[in-house]
This record gives sequence, structure tokens and C-alpha cells, in this order.
Amino acid sequence: MPERILVIDDDASFQSMLCEALTEKGYDVERAGSAEQGLELAGRGGFDLILLDVQLPGMTGIEAIPLLNDASPKTDIIVMTAYSSKHSALEAIKLGAYDYFTKPFSLKEMEIVIKRALEKRLLQDQIRLFKKKLGEKSPASNIIGDSEPMRRVKELVERVARLETNVLITGETGTGKELIADTIHTLSHRASGPFVKLNCAAIPETLLESELFGHEKGAFTGATGIKRGKFELAAGGTILLDEIGDMPLHLQPKLLRAVEQKQVERLGGAKPIAFDIRVIAATNQILAELVKQKKFRDDLFYRLNVASIHIPPLRERKGDLPLLAEHFIKNVNVKLGTDIARISPRAMEILFAYDWPGNIRQFANVLERAAIFSRGQVITESEIDLGLQEHERPLAPAEIVPASNLPLRESLQEYEKNLITSALKKHHGVQTEAAKQLGITPKNLWNKLKKHAIDPARYARS
Ligand SMILES: Nc1ncnc2c1ncn2[C@@H]1O[C@H](COP(=O)(O)OP(=O)(O)OP(=O)(O)O)[C@@H](O)[C@H]1O
Ligand SMILES: [Mg+2]
Repeated sequence: MPERILVIDDDASFQSMLCEALTEKGYDVERAGSAEQGLELAGRGGFDLILLDVQLPGMTGIEAIPLLNDASPKTDIIVMTAYSSKHSALEAIKLGAYDYFTKPFSLKEMEIVIKRALEKRLLQDQIRLFKKKLGEKSPASNIIGDSEPMRRVKELVERVARLETNVLITGETGTGKELIADTIHTLSHRASGPFVKLNCAAIPETLLESELFGHEKGAFTGATGIKRGKFELAAGGTILLDEIGDMPLHLQPKLLRAVEQKQVERLGGAKPIAFDIRVIAATNQILAELVKQKKFRDDLFYRLNVASIHIPPLRERKGDLPLLAEHFIKNVNVKLGTDIARISPRAMEILFAYDWPGNIRQFANVLERAAIFSRGQVITESEIDLGLQEHERPLAPAEIVPASNLPLRESLQEYEKNLITSALKKHHGVQTEAAKQLGITPKNLWNKLKKHAIDPARYARS
């Protein structure tokens, strides 16, 4: 579509000359002999540019500028003025005209000025469109899921991100707690600051304190240098305290002080170090229960739980499965160089029928395995079966048959023991992996190993 230009000039011969030249250049030109007539035309809209003479009968060009801007706010105005009245050109620019040329001017000169104005306008339109597109895209778009519960979670994430409050994220293993924490950080005004994670369950109790708060040189045997704790490292950003339910009771008062007063003392340090930080805690345990059992301090719980986000397990939002499948298959195609285009309806049925105890992490793993087994563009039921079996072998009921003559309690214990040994077997005695598969924390697993007198070393790769 040709660009539309409105020429407002009372000098008929000049106007004709100009309009003809512009038409020849391919523009769609309309003309007005007075400011009043020009205003009326401009009010109908659709012009990309207005060329405006200053000396007009009745309303002058200068007077018309603000009115033209009102009538057609997105249309640039270029003022044409006699050389002798250059000051009025400057006046025009002050009032909102985009540019000017002085009469007489060469057509070449005019062409350049017009081109420049139109290009600028095109660029502005593109920026507007781009901004609109950006705005439309949900900021939490890396969290896949369109089910009602997930929509609520995403809404909450976006709302909470902008606040400064501490956040407690709860949900079973693999539901996306870390992803949500990461997203909150990214959407907050701390996004350019650090995002520091600490998994309270993965670090031996004896090391946890110095991991969190740091230590001075010589604070304890083996402290050969200064160490900055995670709190210090997260200054200006966000700290994620993962598996907070595993925070030992005796460290909780010091943690509470750090969270509340935003300052820590390094181990062996004399003076407190202040920092600006946001705390996000995550857990797959029910903290309120731990509080009741006196395993978690209530004051710390309330301090962390200012805003809470619960992520429902995948089995309660199976409506998300197709979107998640699409997302993970795209990822797998990139990662493995496969060319999977879809999942067969029967395979999809299996995915829907399963309960996904390991939630999204497990779902992603099963799809990846299925993709490895698949030879074409379609993932079929047998590949899903293989993916599931491989992943679930230790949980397959056939392998774990509790002795039937035991009373319920014992048989459950037996069942648990079998689950644990199968998981250890599968992961060659690597406890963190086994714990992950079982959906419990490494520390939790460690307790259970003691309870059942299982020696994980027996399962190590020889
Ligand atoms: N809604 C989602 N959309 C896309 N990917 C997701 C979603 N939820 C989880 N994931 C992916 O699933 C995997 C597991 O998520 P994440 O590590 O955040 O879970 P978690 O709740 O922290 O698990 P755990 O309790 O075992 O630590 C990650 O790779 C994550 O990116
Ligand atoms: Mg996690």
C-alpha cells in the first residue's frame, strides 16, 4: 500500500507541482488549500505524513500544528516555510512538528526528508507491535500448563514476583518447585542479581552452617581460609532454601535471624554482615505438620510462609499432559537430534492412565526414554511402555511381593525395604539417585537405610 501524504498549502501552482512530484514517486497524495480544510481531512485519519505550509489564509500553519497533532496523533508533520521566516520553522518544531524545509527547496532535498520521516514512522510502528507482542506473552511462559490449578499458580507467581515478600513453595517431588522459584527471581526486580540455591537435605549437617553463613579463617579445624556463605553470595538477589524441612532444629534460630534481620555472622566472625536479599524456601514435606511435631520452629515457619505457592501433583492436572508432552518432545528433538512429531493416541492413553508419582520430572524422563527407543516420527505405546518400565522397574509390583503371612505393618516395612534395595540396585548404590527415584530426600533415605540395616555399599558398581 502506498504511503498517504496530506499537503496543506494555499499556493495553487506550488501545490500542484509538489503533489505531482510526490504522486510520481508513488505516494498517495491529498491536498488542502487551508489549515481548516487540512484539519478536517486529517481528522478522518489514515495519513502517514502531513506537509504543512506556514503562511496560510485564516489559521496559520503554526497555529494548526497542535490541532493537527490532536486530530491525528501518530502522523508526523513537516513544515514548509519561506527562508525569510526560518524562525517560524523552529517555532513549529517546538510545537511538535517533526522537521521542516525552507522554500524554495529542491525535490531531492524534499525526498530525503520525507523518506526519513516515513522510515522513522515504520520503525515506531514495528516497535509498538513488538512491545505489544512481548506484553501479550505471559511472563511466566516457561512454566508449561494450562489447567485451572496451573493457571492459578502462574498468576500467583507473577503477582508474588513483583513483591519483596518471602515465599514458601510446596509440592511433591518433581512438580517444579525449583522452576517456580527461578521464575519468581527472573520476574522480580532482582533479576539482574544472583539466584543462589542451597539444598538443605544434600549437605551434611556439620557443613550446613558454614555453607549458609560462611566462616572466617581458623573458625574450626580445617577452615584454612575465609568462606562466604550462601546468604552473602545471594546479596542483591534471591536465595532458594530447598528442602527446608530438613533444616536441623539447632540451626533454625540462626536462620531465623538471618531471614528476619537480613544479616549474618560468619562462623568465628565477630561482626554481623548485612545484605539485601529475598528468601524463597521450598519443600515437599508438610511444614505445618513438622511444626506440630516440634521438628520445625513455628516462628521460622511464619517468617518463611509470608506468601505460599502450592504446586499440585501432576495426577491432579492431567489436562496439562498434552502441552507438557509437546514441550518435552521439542526439547528432546533438540537434545537427541530426533525428529519426533507426535505421540500415538494409544500411547497418549497410557500416559493419561498413569499416576506419575515422580510428577513432571518423571514424565519428562519417560518421554525422553521413549524417544530413544522410537525409530520413526511417532512415539507408540510400546515405546512408552519401554520408557515407563525402564524408569519404573524397581516399582513394578511383580518384583516386590511382600511376604503374605506378615501382618500389615510388617509387610509395609518389608515393602519399603524392597523398594529401597531395588532403587539402590538400579543406581549402583548411589544414594542421591536412589532417593530421587524414590521421591524422598537423601537424608530421609539415610535414616531408612539405618532403620532397615541396609548397607548401600553392597550395591556399588564393582
Ligand atoms: N510446569 C512445568 N513446565 C515445564 N517444565 C517443568 C514444569 N514443572 C517442572 N518442570 C521441569 O521438571 C523438572 C523438575 O522440576 P523441579 O526440579 O523444579 O522440581 P522440584 O519440585 O524442585 O523437585 P524436587 O522436589 O525433586 O527437588 C525440571 O527439569 C523442570 O524444568
Ligand atoms: Mg527441587
